[in-house]
Amino acid sequence: MTLWSGRVGKELAPEVWEFLKAQDAELLPYDCKATARHARRLAAAGILTDDELAEVVAALDAIESVDPADEDVHSSIERQLGPLGRKIHAGRSRNDQVAAAMRLYVEDACAEAVDAIRAFARVVLDRAEAEAETPMPGYTHLQRAQPVTVGHHLLAWVEMLERDLARFGFAAKQARPSPLGAGALAGSTLDLAAPPDQVRNSLDAVADRDFALDYLYGCAMLHSHLSRVGEELILWTTSEFGFARLPEEAATGSSMMPQKLNPDVAELARGKAGTALGRLTGLLAVLKGLPLAYDRDLQEDKEPVFAARRDVRSALGALGVLVAGLEFDRDRLAAACSDPLLLATDAAEALVREGVAFRDAHEQVAGSVRAGTFEPPPAAPRTAPGPGDVRSAVVAARDRLG
Ligand code: ARG
Repeated sequence: MTLWSGRVGKELAPEVWEFLKAQDAELLPYDCKATARHARRLAAAGILTDDELAEVVAALDAIESVDPADEDVHSSIERQLGPLGRKIHAGRSRNDQVAAAMRLYVEDACAEAVDAIRAFARVVLDRAEAEAETPMPGYTHLQRAQPVTVGHHLLAWVEMLERDLARFGFAAKQARPSPLGAGALAGSTLDLAAPPDQVRNSLDAVADRDFALDYLYGCAMLHSHLSRVGEELILWTTSEFGFARLPEEAATGSSMMPQKLNPDVAELARGKAGTALGRLTGLLAVLKGLPLAYDRDLQEDKEPVFAARRDVRSALGALGVLVAGLEFDRDRLAAACSDPLLLATDAAEALVREGVAFRDAHEQVAGSVRAGTFEPPPAAPRTAPGPGDVRSAVVAARDRLG
């Protein structure tokens, strides 16, 4: 039995039914919340009595699952509400209903991402503080370039994560307005009060999924950052670099080679970025060219958004364990920094302080490098935002993260 069986005389062919059904059980709590809000509007307009409203709210609370035999979560809720379900859909359509539920879902997913990013950033900050003075080579082109510290490097990760926080904040804000009242596309003739922060245009209210794209963009950027973090963890824990050892609670062995300890967590974090990017481009492609207002194509927003939420949660959780337990090899790091040539730029700058033009200084130092006569300059402090002020940068970042 569908919500629209009054219109079609025949049973749907099973293949068609299978194809149309939404994989949207994850929307259940959000749809119940949106339905309760709608029920309050109906009660305020006298379409439901106060007793009926109380009954609907209690019944919504008691719904535990979606019946897979139903077309979608909305049909399932209406059916499970029994006789009151037959009243509840006055003044709304599944088009504004699903948009309302998705918006609530995305807002919640953004809040969850923000919490998980903050927790991961705090782990990184603890490690940055502990390794504030641990020297390591900084790289460009993956060639040793100039000395930095592990703390300074880890703080760069925190910067990426803070930008991710801002993106999820933006996506949550975009999801906040309510599409309820838009009905199928043109509102309704029932005198229902507008929800607070109502989407301004009813066609846009049912057709817009930009908030879902904003969320998927936030996820794609986050995973892209985590893939860079993952790649560095992979490099640092190779025997070739040997900068750090994987904690056993976040490392994997090999089914064949008994000696192996593998960075699968970091690799999967790197790989997830590809999938996350695919979800964003996939939904962009679904939305592109859709005529207003609602089209069933929009049902395709569910799986990428649900899957993105799962990956954000699990990737940050697992990487948090890995980074918390990472053991930096300070001797190896110091040895990797011991090449005086890493101070060649400082030597050129020492000449600049003596009045030599930088290009001349560069050529002079380069000549000494080629001739094998390079002498490192006396140590000089570096200006911010360099590696010199890790501890205060950690304190400031903790402040910002709250
Ligand atoms: N399951 C549908 C979706 O996710 C709900 C809306 C169906 N609306 C309709 N007019 N057929 O988009």
